[in-house]
Amino acid sequence: MATAAPVPHIKTVKPAEGERLALDEAAIDAARRNLNLGAVTPHSGPWRKDIIQLLNDSLATELVCVLRYKRHHFTAEGLSSPKIAEEFLVHATEEAGHADRLARRIVQLGGEPDFGPDSLTTRSHAAYDDSADLKSMIKANLIAERVAIEAYSQLITLIGDKDSTTRRLLEDILADEQQHADELKDWLAAD
Ligand SMILES: [Fe+2]
Ligand SMILES: [Fe+2]
Repeated sequence: MATAAPVPHIKTVKPAEGERLALDEAAIDAARRNLNLGAVTPHSGPWRKDIIQLLNDSLATELVCVLRYKRHHFTAEGLSSPKIAEEFLVHATEEAGHADRLARRIVQLGGEPDFGPDSLTTRSHAAYDDSADLKSMIKANLIAERVAIEAYSQLITLIGDKDSTTRRLLEDILADEQQHADELKDWLAAD
């Protein structure tokens, strides 16, 4: 006799007694005031400062990445590796685009983008690198991209539903960094 298939355990989420989905009317009312805050409304309140700080650390990372890729672009040209030198420049331009988008979002959140050069390397997650040979350059860039991927992934999890616009921006940037890391991995293998 065939045995009956086990019944899967289905977990259902039920609302608690009396629980309803409702908007916070007081917060909506507060949004009608404080017009000087622009796009900042009560919802982003408790996390705004932390998010601005985290975005500024990412901004520092992007700026250091621009400097590293630029350095590699110009020195790789001298090593007669025009193709890789060109790719380093493409990455430098894309990292600069990321920096601009982060700075714009920081301002939109009512913060100040920190472009201070003195503290860039201490605030950045990824390191600067002035390697003289092509393989070391590719490796340093791959390490930096992997660091950026890990940092952005953690940031996206931390932000969750606290700021959906920032999260979408970070998800966009993360996809670019993953693309960069993939390319670098292939160049490292081909070298
Ligand atoms: Fe980037
Ligand atoms: Fe990148």
